[in-house]
Order: sequence, then C-alpha cells, then structure tokens
Amino acid sequence: MKSIDEYRIKIETEIQKLEFPGGKLENLYAPIRYSLSAGGKRIRPVLTLMASDAFGQAEERALKAALGLEIFHNFTLLHDDVMDKSEIRRGRPTVHKKYDENRAILSGDTMLTIASQFVSDVDNDILREVMDSFNDMAIKVYEGQQLDMDFETEEKISTEDYIEMIRCKTGALLGACGKIGALIGGVSHEDAEKMYEFGVQTGIAFQIQDDWLDTFGDAATFGKAIGSDINNGKKTYLYVSALESNTNTAEALREAFKIPAGDVRVKTITRLYEKLGIKESAVKAVNHYSSLALRALNSTSLSDDKKEIFRKFAEKLIGRKK
Ligand code: IPE
Ligand code: IPE
Ligand code: MG
Ligand code: MG
Ligand code: MG
Repeated sequence: MKSIDEYRIKIETEIQKLEFPGGKLENLYAPIRYSLSAGGKRIRPVLTLMASDAFGQAEERALKAALGLEIFHNFTLLHDDVMDKSEIRRGRPTVHKKYDENRAILSGDTMLTIASQFVSDVDNDILREVMDSFNDMAIKVYEGQQLDMDFETEEKISTEDYIEMIRCKTGALLGACGKIGALIGGVSHEDAEKMYEFGVQTGIAFQIQDDWLDTFGDAATFGKAIGSDINNGKKTYLYVSALESNTNTAEALREAFKIPAGDVRVKTITRLYEKLGIKESAVKAVNHYSSLALRALNSTSLSDDKKEIFRKFAEKLIGRKK
C-alpha cells in the first residue's frame, strides 16, 4: 500500500488532468474547473483508494469512483456556499462570488451528473450495489443540509438532533467512500458495511472539528471566514453542547443570538462558549467519535498491518487546522 500522502498526490494529479469542454459553454465549465483545481484536502477520494487497496484491488481500479466522489463533494460545496452565503473557501472567493449564483447552481448540477458517471465506472458485478450506495448517500446529504437550514431558526436543538444532522450532511459521504472503496476491493457485504461505519463516524468527528475551527480556527489556515456559523445562527456542536451545559445558558444564548450579525455577536458568543468550557468539550467529542470509527475499523477482517493506515487517516483529521 501507498502512504496517505502518496494517495493524495495521485488524486491531485488526476484531478488536474481532468478535461472539461471549453468553447461556447465556458460559462458552465469554468466554475467547475475553478472549484476542482482549488486544492482541497481530498480526504474522500483518498479514503476510497485506501479502502480498495486494503481489501485487495490495486487502487487504479477505484480511481474513477474516487474522483467521482471528490467531484460530488465539490458539487455540495458550490450549493452549500450559496445556502450559507459564504464568500471565501480554500482562501479564494467562492464560486457564487467569483461568478454568480445561477452559475454556482448549474455548474453544481453538472458536477453531480459527472460525479455519477464517474462513480458508475466500476465492474458490472458490483455496479448495482455501488450506485445504490452512491444514491442513498446523496439523498442523506440533501436531508442533512435541509435539517442544517431548518435548525437555523430553531432554538432548542438537542445533541442527538445535531449528531443525526451531521451524520447525514457529512458522515454519509465519508461512509460511502469507505464502502464503495471496499466494494471495489472485492470484500464481503459485512466488511463493506463496517467500512461504511468507519467513514460515517470519522465524518461526524470531522464535522465537529469543522464547527470548532469555524469559531476557534485561524482564517488564513482554515481558508474560510471565522464566525460564519455564529452569524448564520447555525446549530453547531458548540451551540448544542452550550445549551445542554447548564440551565442558565439557554437565556444567555438567546440574548447573544439577538445581536445583529457582525464582530460583536461573534465575540460575545465565542466568549460564552469559552466560559462554558465548550472549546475543550468539543475536542473530547471529536476524540469520542474518532474512537467509534476505530472500533468499526477493528471489527473488519483487515490484518492489523492494513488497519494502520486508516488509524493514521483518522488521527490526521482529528488534529487538523484546515
Ligand atoms: C468541507 O469539507 C465541508 C465539510 C464537510 C465540513 P472539507 O474540509 O473536506 O473541504 P476541502 O475539500 O478540504 O476544501
Ligand atoms: C458542510 O457543512 C456540509 C456539506 C457541504 C454537505 P458546512 O456548511 O459546515 O461546510 P463548510 O464549513 O461551509 O465547508
Ligand atoms: Mg457552509
Ligand atoms: Mg452548510
Ligand atoms: Mg462549517
């Protein structure tokens, strides 16, 4: 097997080689090129290649599907940035800011279809199961995104509600990467489901870390605006655990979220989270979900040797600053 970095470089090289039509339809394809070339962490296709490789198939077999899953991820970002009114991603203007909203919508739609074409480029004997997994995942992501928006205007969201929302919006895609990679590798149904679970729990930990970085991260490193979740009234892990930390915080949070979007609101709420010890408890939660991911990994039939790279993968995500 390769190292995580080698898988990432492989993906990066292949993405840079992708070709999209130019000419008259430049308006449609330029945002796609812009989005895909911007350099994300590529964790989803890397997980796909790792899983395929670990379960017995050279990662070449999984390359098209892995690229498709990364294209799907980037499609969700185009639409997510419209919904979240985000202006910066990966340190650059988001697609709807650089181009316009209609192009972010339509280029996103096109990416979704290209993603599906890529993912379906697998052997016939697994085609049905791979596409079922891809389509089930996509629906979960949309459901999670709807819940994420619904929660913006709800005050009382439990930790349970929150975890369910991120299991869908973020966990499902990493789960599908683990599962589809494993299926291409040629595993049993049980092992594929365990790799799904590994991906889902890793994704939950990843999203809690993303929430943490949105408040406590460094904008230049994170590549996104700090405080955007607070300004959008997002029900992040920080919010739901603050709400559940003691009975007086509900009122304090309600008052703080009445402050108009801007620096004062972001500072006030950040301080409140700090005072309540949420900065630390969120780190514990990340570790907790990461340990659930490792438990799923341990239950697979992989040799200890092969499990090692997935442990490293999970560990790398926990400590990330971007
Ligand atoms: C951003 O995903 C969306 C979330 C699920 C938090 P990443 O943080 O993986 O984004 P890139 O692709 O590395 O930019
Ligand atoms: C991302 O959630 C989930 C999806 C894109 C499906 P966020 O809205 O937190 O992602 P970022 O922070 O904008 O990358
Ligand atoms: Mg967003
Ligand atoms: Mg969002
Ligand atoms: Mg976020």
